[in-house]
Amino acid sequence: MTTLKAVRGTRDLLPPETALWNRIEATARAVFARYNFGEIRTPIFEDTGLFARGVGEETDIVSKEMYTWEDRARAQSEKSQSLTLRPENTAGVVRAYIEHKLGETGQLQKLYYIGPQFRRERPQKGRYRQFSQIGAEVIGPPSAGSESPLRDAEVLEMLATLLDELGISGWTLHINSVGSAQDRARYNDVLRAALVPIASQMCEDCQRRAVTNPLRVLDCKVPEDQHLIDALPKISDSLDEASKNHFAQVLAALDAAQVPYTRNHRLVRGLDYYTRTTFEFTHGGLGAQNALLGGGRYDGLSEAIGGPKAPGIGFAMGEDRLVLTLLAQESAPPDKLHAFIAPLGDAKNEQALTRINAAALALARELRRAGLSIELGDGSFRLKKSFEAADKVARRIVIMGEDELASGILTVKDFASGTQTKVPRAELAAFLAG
Ligand code: HAM
Repeated sequence: MTTLKAVRGTRDLLPPETALWNRIEATARAVFARYNFGEIRTPIFEDTGLFARGVGEETDIVSKEMYTWEDRARAQSEKSQSLTLRPENTAGVVRAYIEHKLGETGQLQKLYYIGPQFRRERPQKGRYRQFSQIGAEVIGPPSAGSESPLRDAEVLEMLATLLDELGISGWTLHINSVGSAQDRARYNDVLRAALVPIASQMCEDCQRRAVTNPLRVLDCKVPEDQHLIDALPKISDSLDEASKNHFAQVLAALDAAQVPYTRNHRLVRGLDYYTRTTFEFTHGGLGAQNALLGGGRYDGLSEAIGGPKAPGIGFAMGEDRLVLTLLAQESAPPDKLHAFIAPLGDAKNEQALTRINAAALALARELRRAGLSIELGDGSFRLKKSFEAADKVARRIVIMGEDELASGILTVKDFASGTQTKVPRAELAAFLAG
C-alpha cells in the first residue's frame, strides 16, 4: 500500500517548534490587548464572490491561487454555491463588519485574528499552500476617525513594538502611498503610456501586464527588467493633494514615534483593495520570500462588497515566516523540564514494580500540581536507561526506589553540576523549583 503523506504545500507542526508558535501567538495577543484590539474569528471558507469582489478578479490570488469548489445542494430548499478556502482574512473581516452592522456602533472596530489561510502557490521556503496569518484591522465610519493618518501610524508603531517584543531584530519597514482610486487610475494611464516604448524589451509577464494591469509591472523580480522599471514614473507624482497630505502626516507621526522606515516607490501590493498607505516589513534572513508581513489602507473595500462607507487599515503577518526568522536567530536550546522522576523497581517482582510505579505517579502529580514540569519514567527501566532519558529532557532526576519510598527522603541529581542531594519529600517541590 502506498503511504499517505501531508499534501504538497501543507505540513505538520511538531514539538518543540509548536512551543515557539504558542509563544508568538501569546506575545501577539498580549500586545493587541494593550492597543485595545479584540479577537474576531471568521469561517475558514466563504462565498467565492467575496474574494472576487473584495480582493479583485484580476489579482494573482483570485485568478490563480484559490481553492474553490462547487458546494452541491443537499436539499431542494438549498442552492448549490461556489465556496473558497480563505486566501486572506481582510475580506472576511469586512464581510462580518457589514453583516453584524458594526458600523452602527459609531465606534472604531479594532479586530485581530490568528489562523490558517490557503493559496495554491508554488511551495518553497517560507511559502506554503496552507499558512498561518496573525493580522489586525481597524475599521469604522469616517466619523469615528477611521480615515485619520494617525490610525496608519499607530498600526505601524504597534507592529514595530510587536516585532521587537517577539525578539525579531533587523527588520525593514517599506512604506508607500498608492493614493485614492482616482489617483491610481491616473497613474495606471501614465504607466501604460510610459511602458509602450519599452515593453518589448521586458520579460513576457511584463509585456502582458503593460497592457492588462500596468501597476503589476512594479512587482517584477526579473533582474534584466529592473533598470527599466526603476526609471518609470513614480506613483507619488500622480497623487492628488489630499493623498499627498495624508501620507505626509503618516510619515510625520512615524518620525515622532521614532519608527524607522524606508520609502519604496514600487510597493503597490498584490491585492486590489488598497488605497493610500501600503507597507511591508521585510527580513534579510528569509531569502526570496522575505516579506514578514504586509498591509495597508482599504478605504473602499466595504462599499465594493455592498457595505456602508467604512475606511480601514490593517496588516497580516506570515506566522510561518516569523517562526523561520526566530529559529534562524535563536541558538539557545529549548527550556528543560524541572525534573524526571525515575521509579526504581525490580522488573521481576510485579507487585513491587506496581507499588513503586504507583508511588512515582503520586509524586509526579504532587509536583505537577505545585506548578513544576515533570516527566515520568517507568519502574522497569534500568537506572542507566532512566539517566539517559532524563538527561535529554530535564535538569534533574529524582530517584524513587524502595528505600526512598520507605524513608520519604528522595535522591536528586542535578545534571549541570553533577551533585547528588538527599531531599525530604515535603521540601522537594521548593528544591526543584530553585
Ligand atoms: P499578503 O501580503 O497577501 O496580505 O499576506 C500577508 C503576509 O502573509 C505576507 O507578507 C506573508 O508573510 C504571509 N504569506 C502570504 N502568502 C503566504 C504563503 N503562501 N506562505 C506563507 N506565508 C504567506 C494579505 O493577506 C492582506 N490581507 C493583509 C492586510 C490586512 N491588508 C490589510 N489588512
